Amino acid sequence: MNLKKIPSNRIRKLRTLSLGKEEYTFCDLKHGSLIELIDLCSNDYFGLSRDIDIINAAYNLTLKEGLGSGSSRFISGSRPIHELLEKKLSEWLNQEKVLLFPSGFQANIAAIQTLADRNSIILADKLIHNSLLVGAQTSGSKLIRFIHNDLNDLEKKLSRFSSQKKSILVVVESLYSMEGSIAPIKEISEICKRYGVKLLVDEAHSIGILGNEGRGLCNKLTNDISMISGTLGKSFGSGGAFLACNSKVADQIIQTCGAFRYTTALAPILAAGALKSLEKIKTNKTWGKDLIRASKEWKDEISKLNKYSIKGDCQILSIIIGDEDQTMRMQKYLEEQGFLAIGIRPPTVPYGQSRIRITIRRTLNKKILEKFILALKNF
Ligand SMILES: Cc1ncc(COP(=O)(O)O)c(C=O)c1O
Repeated sequence: MNLKKIPSNRIRKLRTLSLGKEEYTFCDLKHGSLIELIDLCSNDYFGLSRDIDIINAAYNLTLKEGLGSGSSRFISGSRPIHELLEKKLSEWLNQEKVLLFPSGFQANIAAIQTLADRNSIILADKLIHNSLLVGAQTSGSKLIRFIHNDLNDLEKKLSRFSSQKKSILVVVESLYSMEGSIAPIKEISEICKRYGVKLLVDEAHSIGILGNEGRGLCNKLTNDISMISGTLGKSFGSGGAFLACNSKVADQIIQTCGAFRYTTALAPILAAGALKSLEKIKTNKTWGKDLIRASKEWKDEISKLNKYSIKGDCQILSIIIGDEDQTMRMQKYLEEQGFLAIGIRPPTVPYGQSRIRITIRRTLNKKILEKFILALKNF
């Protein structure tokens, strides 16, 4: 594959604004002066990364516990806040066990290494996140892809490979990070159950938003799903991640998984912030539904322009441009109009499908939507 080298200036130098101006998350230095950009791209869906209660909870715990954990969970890194967050998350998700990780990328590698090995077959959706792919590669399993969200293709491949008498793991996301598409998790879990295969679901973008009061799409299917992976750096506004599963599988992670055993435990400050976020999400039961409703309004308004093909079932929307250069021209134009909306190009998305990916966040209001629509109209 002929991949373009990513220029180092793609890693943006951004500055955040002061607290309380949630919709203007970013500030960029242009020709020596600061310009404000409305955040249409971060995964901080509820704006919790700058919520004062959460910051206070994290700060107060840091005064007692220090900033970092100092070592792995097996040495001296385990703190009461880890156990408390794991317990509260497992209760909320109706799961026997939750284990925390320093990042979702790492949690996904751990998940796959726990559920599959070199004698296994992994059947993965064509659009799974890179961390899951890396997990599949490092597990040594045979990797087979099925067409995105296509139940027929999944079933066809399951029936073909199940005759090989190998352990099979199906890997999907509940809300895909670039496409914004929701997976038919219930149907996928039924197929997996019928074939007696394991199922791993990455709920990174759906936790807090989709499902019953934001508990994700696997919430009512606990017994049919082998493992759920979730991040704390998106709707929770903190950082880190978790795996949720039954006690037996959790014990296997604890006993055998290097990505859990041999890493510095999640920083207490992030765990304390995430715990407070969980409380807020539990209290504000309609946040997820409100966000889905607002996202639909954004999608409808963009569609009404009859100018762009737009994808996305939820808070992640993709305005498909196709051509890479035109996508980057649009990103630049939107920036001039005061929006930070990032152009996504291959290899992150398939060739010919370059896009502006926008995320709808709780703090965006109608005025911002109107301003954005006007900008799109005039591009
Ligand atoms: C679907 C999905 N899974 C996992 C991850 C990795 O999570 P983290 O950012 O916590 O490493 C991401 C990150 O963007 C993601 O989009």
